[in-house]
Amino acid sequence: MKVVLGVSGGIAAYKACELLRLFTESGHEVRVVPTRDALRFVGEPTWAALSGNPVTTEVWENVHEVPHVRIGQNADLVIVAPATADVLAKAAQGLTGDLLTTTLLTARCPVVFAPAMHTEMWDHPATRANVATLRERGAIVIDPASGRLTGADTGPGRLPDPEEIFEVCRRVLRGAPRDLAGRRVVVSAGGTREAIDPVRFIGNRSSGLQGYALARTAVARGAEVTLIAANVTLPDPAGAKVVRVESTAQLREAVLAAADDADVVVMAAAVADFRPVDQATSKIKKTSGEPEPIRLTKNPDILAELGERRTLARNSATPTAGTPASGTPTGGAAGEGATNTGPAVIVGFAAETDDVLANGQAKLARKGCDLLVVNQVGERLAFGTPDNAATILVAGGEPVEVARGPKEDLADTLWSLVAPRLTD
Ligand code: CTP
Repeated sequence: MKVVLGVSGGIAAYKACELLRLFTESGHEVRVVPTRDALRFVGEPTWAALSGNPVTTEVWENVHEVPHVRIGQNADLVIVAPATADVLAKAAQGLTGDLLTTTLLTARCPVVFAPAMHTEMWDHPATRANVATLRERGAIVIDPASGRLTGADTGPGRLPDPEEIFEVCRRVLRGAPRDLAGRRVVVSAGGTREAIDPVRFIGNRSSGLQGYALARTAVARGAEVTLIAANVTLPDPAGAKVVRVESTAQLREAVLAAADDADVVVMAAAVADFRPVDQATSKIKKTSGEPEPIRLTKNPDILAELGERRTLARNSATPTAGTPASGTPTGGAAGEGATNTGPAVIVGFAAETDDVLANGQAKLARKGCDLLVVNQVGERLAFGTPDNAATILVAGGEPVEVARGPKEDLADTLWSLVAPRLTD
């Protein structure tokens, strides 16, 4: 595929070299279009050698090829990384002045921006407005990561890892629809741990792979994603806000807070059903006799609680003219003045060993969710493997079978079932 890599003048330009390699090594034809300022950070020979293509920043070179129009017209994807506040402003206003901005005006393919700048610049109302404009027009703008910035500063504004920007672009090139644009999505991933003492815990084998695949896919489909990660060691997906938790109590708090203004909540995390009644504050020592048994108590069921809260909110919402009646899905992110009746779509996961469908149907009803992804576990565990097979149970609809395949495919099927249910 033909990819245009636009590079604007930020210190993170050096990370775009790695992104360029990821594209070329996976067989894409890349044309690098740096701005004049980008060349102050990384020189033209580097871009030319790594891309194997000529590199120009001005519209006045090779004019007979009409590059200011042709490059954009011929592209299958334009990715701007890093995208400075300046290039976002120019793109939002439709200003030109160099080859990158003319390319952005002539491109009719998907356009992805990966902004990187200091937190103050990212948070400035002018930048927020420019980002909102670009998103409204159909661009994917990947929220920057949080962390160390140039100098001693830390905060949101870092360019996400090149591998993770590439993951978004790969999905966009695969034809990811933008059906989650403007939607707020919460995904829980991984497995909770319940402390026995300061060094030991009760946990499970969940790797977080399925939840992370869901988050990555949702970003590529245009969603604003909060990923609540319980003990996951995978790299942060580009564009997702990652909240790290350990125990079920922490997961519950994070999920319920994020669910308040979410359109969709997907509980892909494997939640510990029980926790020790007592947590020792010092390490439990071996004694000569038999060890003390660990007494367990039940954890709250977060998914069921989400369903119950939504039912309560829907029942207490008084229908008035122009307001959806109780029972009508209205996302938490619904416009100003609309009644917040909780997430429009709640999705659960279930691991079953026996009577998979019957147990799944009972769980779907018991937990009050709209969709339930049922994995049969046992002979080949879904935990930690790159593949998954599942049946997606749909409240009031026919089940959907998902054949064994990459967790990314299951994620795509799930979002394709969720998107049409977001109807506000
Ligand atoms: N879940 C939850 N809170 C819990 C337990 C589970 O939110 N305390 C969520 C999981 O994230 C998952 C779904 O509920 O989306 C189903 O989890 P599963 O472990 O299969 O169900 P259980 O409630 O444990 O039911 P059972 O023990 O009957 O299998």
